[in-house]
This record gives sequence, C-alpha cells and structure tokens, in this order.
Amino acid sequence: MSHSKRILCIGAGYVGGPTMAVMAMKCPDYRFDVVDINPERIAGWNSDELPIYEPGLDEVVRKARGRNLFFSTEIAAGIRDADIIFVSVNTPTKTFGEGAGMASDLQYWERTAHEIVEHAEGDKIIVEKSTLPVRTAEAMERILKANPRGRRFEVVSNPEFLAEGTAVRDLLEGDRVLIGAHDTKDGRAAAAAVADIYRHWMPEERILTTSVWSSELSKLVANAFLAQRISSINAISALCEKTDADVGEIARAVGSDSRIGARFLNASVGFGGSCFKKDILNLVYIARSYNLPEVADYWEAVVRMNNFQMERFVRRMVREMFNTVAGKKIALFGFAFKADTGDTRESPAITVSRLLLEERAHLAITDPQALENARKDLADLEGEVTYTIDPYAAAEGADAVAVLTEWRHYRELDFERIFHSMRQPAFLFDGRNILDHRTLREIGFQVYPLGSRSLTSF
Ligand code: NAD
Ligand code: UGA
Repeated sequence: MSHSKRILCIGAGYVGGPTMAVMAMKCPDYRFDVVDINPERIAGWNSDELPIYEPGLDEVVRKARGRNLFFSTEIAAGIRDADIIFVSVNTPTKTFGEGAGMASDLQYWERTAHEIVEHAEGDKIIVEKSTLPVRTAEAMERILKANPRGRRFEVVSNPEFLAEGTAVRDLLEGDRVLIGAHDTKDGRAAAAAVADIYRHWMPEERILTTSVWSSELSKLVANAFLAQRISSINAISALCEKTDADVGEIARAVGSDSRIGARFLNASVGFGGSCFKKDILNLVYIARSYNLPEVADYWEAVVRMNNFQMERFVRRMVREMFNTVAGKKIALFGFAFKADTGDTRESPAITVSRLLLEERAHLAITDPQALENARKDLADLEGEVTYTIDPYAAAEGADAVAVLTEWRHYRELDFERIFHSMRQPAFLFDGRNILDHRTLREIGFQVYPLGSRSLTSF
C-alpha cells in the first residue's frame, strides 16, 4: 500500500518507540520508520521481546509492525525519504564541562541535526520530541540553515507528556498534545501537518498550539510542577512523623480542594525517573544563565527536598534498627523508579541501596521487571547484594523489608509467611505507603509507614 506521508523518528527509546507505535496504529494511511544508532535496540523492537516493558505496548506494536511501522538502523535512508522527522534522542544531564550536573547534554541532538543536513534531499519538517532547553530550536535552525543545497527545514516543538508504565494510555488519551511553531506561513503549515497526525484520534480541543519557545519551556515547567507537588507532600511527611499527623489524611484533605487537585500527592521515598531531576536542573541552569538566581533557587529546592527524603528514609531505617544495619539482611521490595516499568533511571532504590551498603547492610533485591537494570546500576558498588524475582526468598532471614516501588502485587503477598521467615524483631519500612499497616502490626511486624506514626511494640 502506498502511504500519503512518510514519518521518521530518530531515537527508538522509551518515547520514540511507543509514540510511533501508537501513531502508526492510529494512522494506517501514513508510513512510520523508527531508526536508532543502537542495533540491539532495533533488533529488540523487531522481536517478540520488546526492549522496554510497557503495559499494552506489545499489542499496539503487533498491530502496526510490518504494516506501516518499521524499525531499522537505516538513518540516512530514513532521513532521505521522510516528510516529517521526529527527533526523540536522549538529552541527559551534562556530565562534563560547563553546566556539568545541571545543563542538558545536547550532543545527540546536535548530531541528528547534522545528519539531517547531510542526508536530506528535499524540504522537511523537523519535530523536537525530546525534552530540550528553551530556545533549542534556534540553535537547530542555525545548523539546518547552513545546508549547502538550499533545503528548507521548518522546526516544530512537540514535547511528549507520557509517563512510563501508562505510556500507551497516555498516548491514546492524553490530556493534551502541544505543538509549538513559528507564527509564519511555513510555521503554521508545519504545525498543521503535525496536528494532522494527532487528529486521527485526538479531539481537536486537546491539540494546543503555541509559539516554539512556549512549547519548549512548557515541557520543563510541567515536569517541574509535577515534581514540586511530590516534594511538597514529602516535606510534609517529615513533619507528620514528628507530630503524629498522617500524611495520607493530609493529602486527602488538601487534595479534595478542587483548586489543588488530588493527584501527585502520594508521599514516597522520593521521585525518580529519567526526567524530573534532569528537567528541573535544566530549568535551574537556564534561570541562572539568564541571571535569575531567585528563580533558580526556588526550583532547585524541589530536587534538594527529594535528596533529603531519600536520605531521611535510610537514616530512619538505621536509627530504628538500633542504630546499626551492619551485617543485617535487608530486603528491598521493588527497584524500578515506579510500578509497571522495568526502568530504574534515577530510581530512589539506587540511592537507598548505596546508602545502606555504606552502612554495610546486606541487600536482597526483588523486583518483577527491573532486576537486570538493578544489577547494572549497582555493579560498581561494593558489598553483599543478591537479586531474586521472588519476594518471599528476598525476605527469608531478613531483618527488614523496605518497600521502594509501588508494585500492586506487593499488597497481595502473604505477610504472615514473610513475617515468620524473617529474623525477629521483623521491621517493615513502607516507602510507598501501599501496605495495610494495621494488619502488618497485628501479624507482629514493627511497621514504619512514611509520614505517619510508626506501629511498633517498642
Ligand atoms: P532513551 O535513552 O530511551 O532513547 C533515546 C534513543 O536515542 C536511544 O535508543 C539512543 O540510542 C538513540 N540515539 C541517540 N543518538 C542518536 C542518533 N544520533 N541517531 C539515532 N539514534 C540516536 O530516551 P527516552 O527516555 O526515549 O527519552 C528521549 C527524550 O524524550 C528525552 O529528551 C527525554 O527527556 C524525553 N522524554 C522522556 C520521557 C520518558 O518517559 N522516558 C517522557 C517524555 C519525554
Ligand atoms: C513524568 C511525567 O509524569 C510525564 O508527564 C513526563 O512526560 C515524563 O516524566 C518525562 O518527561 O519523562 P514518569 O517519570 O515516567 O513521567 O513517571 P511519573 O508517574 O511522573 O513518576 C515519577 C516519579 O514520581 C516516580 O518515581 C513516582 O513513583 C513518583 N511519584 C509520583 C511519587 O512519589 N508520588 C506521586 O504522587 C506521584
């Protein structure tokens, strides 16, 4: 079948793969090619075992792959043949040079710009899908305009708001799609071409258009606001533990104010994920570079509070376990940065593990999806760590269980059995407040919920 338009996506990661798969499923009249420099990732996308775990994704890929969705490493050919090019490469925090630890590392992004210039044979629309510092499109345009063959490239910003674990649902039923374009004839035409893709399934009123700069900055701001809510409730969780107030009750009382809203108010051991910290630090860096230190400090506090929360969680464990965990076995329930993903990037479990290993604890890590990543994350740390898919095996002979990821099935475990297999007194630290703390106390555990009174026999 011939397709009316050819769409290319450079970068077959957590965003590029699912986004293009959903678009391809919904737009059978377009052809979608997803390319990557990593041949293993591409082989994964072409196999029955996709390179990322996302509920519902297998089915979406199965519907479109080989029909109008193709994964390959043919970057040059992809660029040559495409009408619209989405760029969805990684934009991690810079680890070197100026801005190290704060600014975005744009080397992958810039490399794609040069590749586009080199291989494009006609005019193209370039879509920023990656999360980027505000005014990146300007730099992109300078590189693209420097092309020797007079090609015209129109740069559009279309940031992605999907969350891992719910990517397919978010892509199908997202609150909005944001398209930022220049207010010129070509800019408006490019925005319309990108909007046409989403119109295949998104209601018109959810497709928002703005300037390129507002769109780029909105993405950073959305993540900063979401993370700020978590740091706000986590700050209150510390206060609750001192005052016998209950952070869950507070979240309900505060969140039922419709001006505030109920979501993203779950106190936790800390937020993780590849983006919150990276994007806030990027925002901080941008504010500093525009000489706005108050703005920068304000947002940086969100990250500082998150670090405090992770460290506080471990300090409490050590303190409650008679001021030492050296030689004690601690079972970590969950390693992924959130439930329903195998992703461990910036997972609070990494910080918690590192701090516990510094205290010479022995760790037994269990997670249904993230063990392979956990092994890699902790590879350079010294100390005793074992990995098992079976939570019962992890808890056997342990002094403490610490819940670090809110996997639903942890609620259904047989905690009687777990309690009796542990050393006594058996401690339970619920870093996600997902368990039934009263029942656990009745079983005999020394229970430490987050942000409320501990339930113990001491
Ligand atoms: P990722 O690391 O999973 O995927 C990026 C892919 O790009 C990798 O497979 C890498 O090999 C490939 N790549 C790098 N340079 C390349 C090049 N020159 N040519 C071809 N391929 C290249 O990253 P991700 O999680 O998909 O994130 C991508 C972007 O989307 C980031 O800017 C991120 O901030 C943003 N974002 C991520 C999420 C998320 O949930 N992960 C959500 C919204 C936005
Ligand atoms: C987040 C945003 O929600 C997405 O909109 C955005 O597109 C994405 O970042 C991105 O730019 O990468 P994600 O990090 O995948 O998505 O997952 P979230 O559901 O936002 O969770 C982030 C972290 O916050 C997790 O560690 C989660 O456990 C934690 N969290 C979340 C809490 O501790 N409490 C809450 O109430 C909610």
